[in-house]
Amino acid sequence: MRVFVSRAIPKDALDIIQGVQGVELDVWDDVTPPTREALAARITDADGLLCLLTDRIDGPLLDGAPRLKVVSQMAVGYDNIDVPACKQRGIAVGNTPGVLTETTADLAFGLLLATARRLSEAENDLRSGEWKTWSPMQWTGVDVHDSTIGIVGMGRIGYEVARRAHGFEQEIIYSGRSRNPQVESAFGAEFVDLDTLLQRSDFVSIHTPLTPETRHSFGLEQFRKMKRSSILINTSRGPVVNQVELVEALRQGLIAGAGLDVFEIEPLPLDDPLLSLPNVVLLPHIGSASIRTRTRMAVLAARNLVAGLEGKPLPNPVG
Ligand code: DGY
Repeated sequence: MRVFVSRAIPKDALDIIQGVQGVELDVWDDVTPPTREALAARITDADGLLCLLTDRIDGPLLDGAPRLKVVSQMAVGYDNIDVPACKQRGIAVGNTPGVLTETTADLAFGLLLATARRLSEAENDLRSGEWKTWSPMQWTGVDVHDSTIGIVGMGRIGYEVARRAHGFEQEIIYSGRSRNPQVESAFGAEFVDLDTLLQRSDFVSIHTPLTPETRHSFGLEQFRKMKRSSILINTSRGPVVNQVELVEALRQGLIAGAGLDVFEIEPLPLDDPLLSLPNVVLLPHIGSASIRTRTRMAVLAARNLVAGLEGKPLPNPVG
């Protein structure tokens, strides 16, 4: 049995795959992802693929991999995978929910704090010698405590963001497909429609998956409904936000700032207009990037992969 792993992942996970009798492991040992051509070439006779969110897995690619039994993604989001195309070909698909929830919520909240209190700007100024004295109004931001946070999408990560918001004595409002009685009783969160959320929130934090319905669900129309003093936080997927319109909104002052961990194009091109704006904090998609969590994600992805190879139910199947 041949397995292709599309990037170097923690040894704990590779050991799980190597524990399968008769497995031949092929690991893409480069910091950048395989090109589409390289990926296609490496899976032509593979039985299993462990991939990342940087790999596009679609019908034409799968047609060149007739032996494939399982596609195991090391991420909770799987918008890069055409799941129906996998199903049509009898290929099982797995992802890694649960193990990254708190770590991603920590990052979302850290990004919210950094954007509200202008941490990147202040540190950059310190490093470049701009700190001349303690100054009454230099680097002043906005308070996080006693503000209102609007959480869009109350799934696992949204729930953990609410827990952190509660600790900061924020009023919590949320919108989404359905109500979550648990977040209401635990943290006093209030379920509202999206327009109300946009109008009332000081911070809007996005926690929806990328689907055809959520793509560009944040654009000028939504930014116009937000307070001019409000801050947008996105740690979900870049294309949920129309980035061109976000730049426009930030330039026009329709909203006060944005903290972004995800972008429409990743890595963010160095000539992107976002990089010229002072009122943004930009991170390189590190929501789940703690050593422990990334290791757990890799291990879970390996377990999904092995189950698929052995024709067993995946611990975390998609679809
Ligand atoms: C995911 O899991 O979908 C994140 O974006 C990477 O942790």
